[in-house]
Amino acid sequence: MDINELKKIFGEHYGSPQAVYASPGRVNLIGEHTDYNGGFVLPGAIDKGMALAIKPNGTSKIRVFSVDYNEACEFGMNEADKPEKGWAKYIFGVVREMDKRGKKVEGFDAAFYGDVPLGAGLSSSAALESTFAYALNDIYSLGIDLFELAKIGQATEHNYVGVKCGIMDQFASLFGKKGNLIRLDCRSLEYQYVPFNPTGYKLLLVDSCVKHELVNNPYNRRRESCEAAAAAIRRRHPEVEFLRDANFDMLEEVKSEISAEDYSRATFVIGEVKRLLDACDALTKGDYQTVGKKMYETHEGLSKLYEVSCEELDFLNDCARRYGVTGSRIMGGGFGGCTINLVEDAKYDKFVAQTLADYKAKFNIDARIYDVVISDGARRLE
Ligand code: GLA
Repeated sequence: MDINELKKIFGEHYGSPQAVYASPGRVNLIGEHTDYNGGFVLPGAIDKGMALAIKPNGTSKIRVFSVDYNEACEFGMNEADKPEKGWAKYIFGVVREMDKRGKKVEGFDAAFYGDVPLGAGLSSSAALESTFAYALNDIYSLGIDLFELAKIGQATEHNYVGVKCGIMDQFASLFGKKGNLIRLDCRSLEYQYVPFNPTGYKLLLVDSCVKHELVNNPYNRRRESCEAAAAAIRRRHPEVEFLRDANFDMLEEVKSEISAEDYSRATFVIGEVKRLLDACDALTKGDYQTVGKKMYETHEGLSKLYEVSCEELDFLNDCARRYGVTGSRIMGGGFGGCTINLVEDAKYDKFVAQTLADYKAKFNIDARIYDVVISDGARRLE
């Protein structure tokens, strides 16, 4: 769909839009489940995201049309007006979080669509939050900086969706820059753009097209495990605020004081913080073999220690090894979605063809391939 079509659909419902915005999904090269542990991440915005046409409507109501769901929703802006529809909660949450920060928006009409595959671990929800946050900040001249917009999206997840996520996805969606990954320190929020143009290699995603919606919110449980391990370490080492500050020796000291599960989770996180730094080092030297090796180690840890993989993703990771891919791992929260793969140009075609065939033969599912184009973050299009 292009912008003109979005404007046309907006027109069918609400007249002509005042402005059109877009905000992307993200990939993350390495550094998974480190953001809420105060560690580092290395995401980049992608060329897929959400587009939004919007106009104030002079009322106190929000009227939104989702092109993808072919559904409209109308709701108020007070806490009691929380909409029923799943997708509308993200928009309501953004408005509420702005209000809590003393930033008032008025009623508006909006239509939006996305081309980020849902449930693929590419942060379609962060793209949605960021598009609305960015757009409302702009049309109402609220003067909120990009970091605060990211926090508004994150708080929406925490308070209106129920996922206690870190800051990575919203940050990447807002700060993305074409051709660059971003190394973010999730505690200090210091960041550096890292040019990413791996000559001789391609970065691609293989979408398993499965999403295991597990009960009991496993993402939040991972976070609780990390917090429990960090708290145990802090009793002996008060300087440890997050697991990011801990090392393996400190973890060993508290091994008998925490559950075996919390111990495994913390082992992964402490290793992952170090792996990201090593991978960044290798990247600056153009040493993609080392970057790839670290990606495989991350997969191993996410699968065995953090236990956020699944049969399908482990199978895709095995395919990558079998067909000589330089680095491959689960990307994002886990439990389905994509693997991210760094593959030499010469091996690309065979890897793609064989993996699609093997995956189909094993699970009778057509996996999908997305070439990653690192792109710009949230912006006004018109
Ligand atoms: C999800 C969350 C992020 C991050 C990743 C795992 O995408 O939204 O904050 O924790 O999982 O790295």
